[in-house]
Amino acid sequence: MRTQVGIIGAGPSGLLLARLLHLHGIGCVIVEARSRAYCEGRIRAGVMEHDAAQMMRDAGVGERMDREGLLHHGVILRFNGRDHRIDLTGLTGKSIMVYGQHEVVKDLIAANLAAGIPILFETPDVAIHGITGPAPRIAFQNGAIDCDFIAGCDGFHGISRPAMPVQGFDRIYPFGWLGILSQSPPPHEELIYASHDNGFALASMRSPTISRLYLQVAPDEDEANWPDERIWAELQTRLGHHIVPGPILQKGVTAMRSFVAEPMQLGRLFLAGDSAHIVPPTGAKGMNLAYGDVALLARALAAYFADGSETDLAGYSSTALRRVWKAERFSWWLTSLMHRFENHTPFERRMQQAELDYITSSPTGAATLAENYVGLPML
Ligand code: APR
Ligand code: PHB
Repeated sequence: MRTQVGIIGAGPSGLLLARLLHLHGIGCVIVEARSRAYCEGRIRAGVMEHDAAQMMRDAGVGERMDREGLLHHGVILRFNGRDHRIDLTGLTGKSIMVYGQHEVVKDLIAANLAAGIPILFETPDVAIHGITGPAPRIAFQNGAIDCDFIAGCDGFHGISRPAMPVQGFDRIYPFGWLGILSQSPPPHEELIYASHDNGFALASMRSPTISRLYLQVAPDEDEANWPDERIWAELQTRLGHHIVPGPILQKGVTAMRSFVAEPMQLGRLFLAGDSAHIVPPTGAKGMNLAYGDVALLARALAAYFADGSETDLAGYSSTALRRVWKAERFSWWLTSLMHRFENHTPFERRMQQAELDYITSSPTGAATLAENYVGLPML
């Protein structure tokens, strides 16, 4: 098989990259280790930045998102038992779109297959060869793809990042999130981020009848310690809103980590999305960072295939990393601000509360949060 860009991974990064390349008339093939059902069923985050939602529309895959997604103009920060609304649209003129990542994945898989882009699901033993030469190759069991470039969109545990020498920067947080998806109305029409002495809690949603709720727990927390009744009671305590319990459709503990690999390119291999960096989920930046990388990479590849120009490709890593580090900073900051740290002194807890008071009472403080939350420019 031969194509212009070989893409490893059918998550948001690989799928959106394929879509954008196709719109530029550039050929690509996606190889994916897991099944289509697995990719489409994996429950992940659900907040799209203003410009990420616009990228979906511009790429011709925004129709269901605009119909079924929930456009939000504000977000609630709760501390010391009171709600404080950040008026995202009033402060920035922008909004966010609440739409599950697995719905994004379904829409992109359908659009790519309809456009005739091969997605080789359930491909085992994927390996990368020749990235520092002119003819890279993706090899796998029973086949290979020769290409001009390889996009490593294979997530945090993929094979692309280990195929190149990178320097990793990371921070592991001393807590995790217990997340549930439940068939019950969300406690409020907007997202609530709550700082409570028992720990952080977040109320999000997927629809007016499906809630996505999270509790700060120990990083290695055993789910067995959290029978349903305990989850509902603790959400009620920390969120301070009327919580309507319902059937729990999915439950899991996520560890919290920040990680960035530098650089994001070696020769003809380019990393995008979680393969190059991860964020703790507090700022909802994971998928949005993937979109930023892919916007840049698609533009650079389009320039190369249009007139052979390699300037944008050569600048990809350093340009992408500037946006990545700003989102890393925001995610780290919001995580540090909202969670309970066991080693915090009462003084440090008061510092968190004073900063929350500042952010929610000063238009300048609120604007800083709002500008980052709705998203910094993609390009
Ligand atoms: N061969 C082929 N495919 C692989 C391999 C491999 N060796 N390793 C991993 N993959 C696939 C995974 O099965 C997955 O479908 O690569 C895909 C990577 O997708 P994601 O993990 O979703 O990463 P990305 O597309 O960069 O999306 C980033 O996803 O993890 C969330 O929170 C994160 O929202 C962010 C977004
Ligand atoms: C989610 O809806 O899953 C969600 C929302 C906001 C976050 C993280 C996750 O910060």
